[in-house]
Amino acid sequence: MKTGIGIANGKLILIGEHSVVYGMPAIAIPFKEVRAITTVSASDSMTVNCIYHNGFLSDAPKQLENLQAVVSATMERLGESEQSLRIEIDSTIPVERGMGSSAAVANSVVKAIYAYYDQVPDDETLFELTQISEAIAHGNPSGLDARVTVSDRPLYYIRGKTMEAFDIHLKGYIVVGDTGENGQTMLAVNALGERRKMDPAVIDGLIHELGELSERSKSILAGEDLEPLGVCMDLAQDALSRMGISNGALDHLIEAARIGGALGAKLTGGGWGGCMLALTKSLGEARQMEKILMQNNAKQTWVLAL
Ligand code: MEV
Repeated sequence: MKTGIGIANGKLILIGEHSVVYGMPAIAIPFKEVRAITTVSASDSMTVNCIYHNGFLSDAPKQLENLQAVVSATMERLGESEQSLRIEIDSTIPVERGMGSSAAVANSVVKAIYAYYDQVPDDETLFELTQISEAIAHGNPSGLDARVTVSDRPLYYIRGKTMEAFDIHLKGYIVVGDTGENGQTMLAVNALGERRKMDPAVIDGLIHELGELSERSKSILAGEDLEPLGVCMDLAQDALSRMGISNGALDHLIEAARIGGALGAKLTGGGWGGCMLALTKSLGEARQMEKILMQNNAKQTWVLAL
């Protein structure tokens, strides 16, 4: 039977979430420990099989509105809008945890549909189609998630301006801790937008502070001294907290990580739940940090070598 397969990895924002929406630089890393795999095959109607729904795509629940949009835009782009397919999505990327699940799923769906028609989308087409899904899922997406899910290398990104893939020279380990609470990117992005209208001087100040921390982190990643990266992460968490993006579950894991010896710790992604990052020097310390986070109610943990 003819099939098309698309695979996309998750992502971690090392620094610069939220401020990236307002044109500040951010650094994101492809996170290959988790990924979305979509398989497309022939069918006499358009159906989807994923954790949220198994049946006609047109009957899918509201949280799959972005999937409906990306499938129809992709079919249209390929000139195949009259065709029907069976779309099966299998993903190990925790949903709504700041790991770019929605962008990765959209990306894998686009690639799988293209593959089914023996085609490969270029990066720009893939980005544009993924952004259709992101705009529905997130409201005002900076494009960072859609870009990094296409990338094999870390990205230094400024919305609409710069997208530089680079290699990290610095040696160290990032431990990812999942609070087990769904993050709420769209609500957090909207809430920050409202706060900015009420108090532009304070919020713009924090946005710029985060932008500078991303710049500093970029040079630190090119060097050999790990401690300053931890300092930037702590300062970024402080700015994000003052913006109102953190929450109790994130604060608890971040505090536990710091007490447990992390060189720095911060939330990652949209906030208001989701995941946090802790920086350690060695793999042994990273494994120990995983234990500390699990003892402090993390739902799961991962380790990523920088
Ligand atoms: C979400 O993963 C990252 C945010 O900066 C939103 C965006 O960049 O679109 C919070």
